[in-house]
Amino acid sequence: MNNEMKDPAYIADALIAQDIDAYLLKHQHKTMLRFITCGSVDDGKSTLIGRLLYDSKMIFEDQLASLESDSKVVGTQGGEIDFALLVDGLAAEREQGITIDVAYRFFATDKRKFIVADTPGHEQYTRNMVTGASTADLAVILIDARQGVLTQTRRHSYLVNLLGIKNVVLAVNKMDLVDYSAERFYDIVADYSHFAKQIGMDSFLPIPISGLKGDNIVEKSANMPWYQGPTLLGHLEEAPVSDQQMLEHPFRMAVQWVNRPNLDFRGFAGQISAGVVRPGDAIRVLPSGKTTTVKSIVTYDGELEKAVAGQSITLTFADEIDCSRGDVIVQSDEPCEVADQFEATLVWTAEQEMLPGRPYLLKIGTQMVTATVTEPKYEVNVNTLDHLASKTLGLNAIGVVNISTDRPIPFEAYAQNVDLGGFILIDRMTNATVAAGMIHFALRRSQNIHWQALDVNREAHAALKNQKPAVIWFTGLSGSGKSTIANIVEKKLHALGKHTFLLDGDNIRHGLNRDLGFTDADRVENIRRVGEVAKLMADAGLIVLTAFISPFRSERQMVRDLMLPGEFVEVFVDTPLEVAEARDVKGLYKKARSGQLKNFTGIDSPYEQPQQAELTVNTVDLTPEEAAERIVQYVLREMS
Ligand code: ADX
Repeated sequence: MNNEMKDPAYIADALIAQDIDAYLLKHQHKTMLRFITCGSVDDGKSTLIGRLLYDSKMIFEDQLASLESDSKVVGTQGGEIDFALLVDGLAAEREQGITIDVAYRFFATDKRKFIVADTPGHEQYTRNMVTGASTADLAVILIDARQGVLTQTRRHSYLVNLLGIKNVVLAVNKMDLVDYSAERFYDIVADYSHFAKQIGMDSFLPIPISGLKGDNIVEKSANMPWYQGPTLLGHLEEAPVSDQQMLEHPFRMAVQWVNRPNLDFRGFAGQISAGVVRPGDAIRVLPSGKTTTVKSIVTYDGELEKAVAGQSITLTFADEIDCSRGDVIVQSDEPCEVADQFEATLVWTAEQEMLPGRPYLLKIGTQMVTATVTEPKYEVNVNTLDHLASKTLGLNAIGVVNISTDRPIPFEAYAQNVDLGGFILIDRMTNATVAAGMIHFALRRSQNIHWQALDVNREAHAALKNQKPAVIWFTGLSGSGKSTIANIVEKKLHALGKHTFLLDGDNIRHGLNRDLGFTDADRVENIRRVGEVAKLMADAGLIVLTAFISPFRSERQMVRDLMLPGEFVEVFVDTPLEVAEARDVKGLYKKARSGQLKNFTGIDSPYEQPQQAELTVNTVDLTPEEAAERIVQYVLREMS
């Protein structure tokens, strides 16, 4: 708590100053509604938020987005602070924070606590809106009564619906500026209904308001006697929160951690995402499918007879069955599905475009797996709702893709269960979140394709050749000497009686990969295919050598992950750009410099140097023959 907070002039509720614990206790048993406001600055969003804070007489600001700053109280009891000043402050802050993320504001009434996520409205801030909406129970879509339904309104509504927010309020604002006209209000509602049907939004509640004048915010407006519905705050106080909506659903809980303080106690901790659980209930652990019954429900306050969606608990089982972090505990007779291929919608949130075929980390529930994404089936134009053909997704783009994960995961469709159907994608190299996703359904092929167990397996293949399979992966700039050195290495190994095969970039690009060019996406696909081929050849017992620029760490890591530990030998052919360019064996650098050749590695396309290559050969100091000899020595030493 900072000094400002202790200053009586800033205190919203005297109890905070006297006894913060008593204050917190007073509020902790109320439910919490999270909501998002959608609209542009002109729609009067800051005024509306200001009005809610002001009239509810509890003005707190909690910039959860900037975690380093303390919570601070910026207002005071309604009436003492100037309303216009408050609104100006909110608007100014919104402008400053606009590029950061989402401003979360906290306030409370006697009935309920609220967190409102305030996000900028423009298209370039789609990701901010998705962040704000992803945890919201309710959305307030603001319309300026003079303007009616705009492109922005449609985009916001589409996103709100996409993110599964069932409770939508259409706040028709600035009614004071249209003479509180019932006709105008109902025209807008009819217009919006038409659109809502189009996007599959089941229902919404229209409320005519004036944020500036306070009509239908807290008090029923005397200016609009024709409106019989609830006020905005009245509705916010009554609307069901998500946890309440999940009570009817079969029991689901993702395991956050296993609690094993001693040998006598083994508990599985997590937050219940759906349904109800009681001791004695038959449950199933997914993906393994093992079943048992619940022995007890443990919390800090002792054991419970029943726990419901939203509660954080620890379960103990009647039997010692395997269960670990990331697993999902479900009602035994109504389990959720398990699959490793899905159709999903992605909202791309990174500057760097999506690369089909690149492995990303996928975090769903408490589980983290590796996943690859196909080219979009289509991209959605969020303003017109048209489906567009697209090869990738850029910042703020929304598209439908197929996803495959390296392991089967328990899931539910996002529309049924946000916790088990919503995920994020993370870049493996930078750890940045690159997309938010929503699972639609599992692809049937994931259930119908099984690994065929073969009798003559990779060990049998390798044993006959009397060698260990390996992939010697050369990486480096064009003209660095990869092919030359790989060629000598292969000759030497061959002479030693090893069974080898060399895959070379220029050659493969004439056949298997002749459909690929040199965009980032095509290079990712090039290396993905070569990696799979190299793996098959290693399964056949061969020592495979590959000579591809393979400029990205992610894809080299992907191929490494395909192989057993120790089988992948990354060889960095370290030749400075100046040297490769001076050699210019194929005359390509000259073309690239003169602009005739686009996306050339090292010139206008990146090369990410290996950070932990098994071997680095410096071709400035070593001849190709010497470099090759080092590699052969390494292979003989480490791989026999
Ligand atoms: S990779 O980046 O996808 O791994 P790969 O090794 O298959 O590239 O192909 C590189 C070879 O293609 C180069 O040695 C060069 O002969 C040729 N090439 C043609 N255009 C380009 C380009 N834009 N960038 C790099 N190499 C190119």
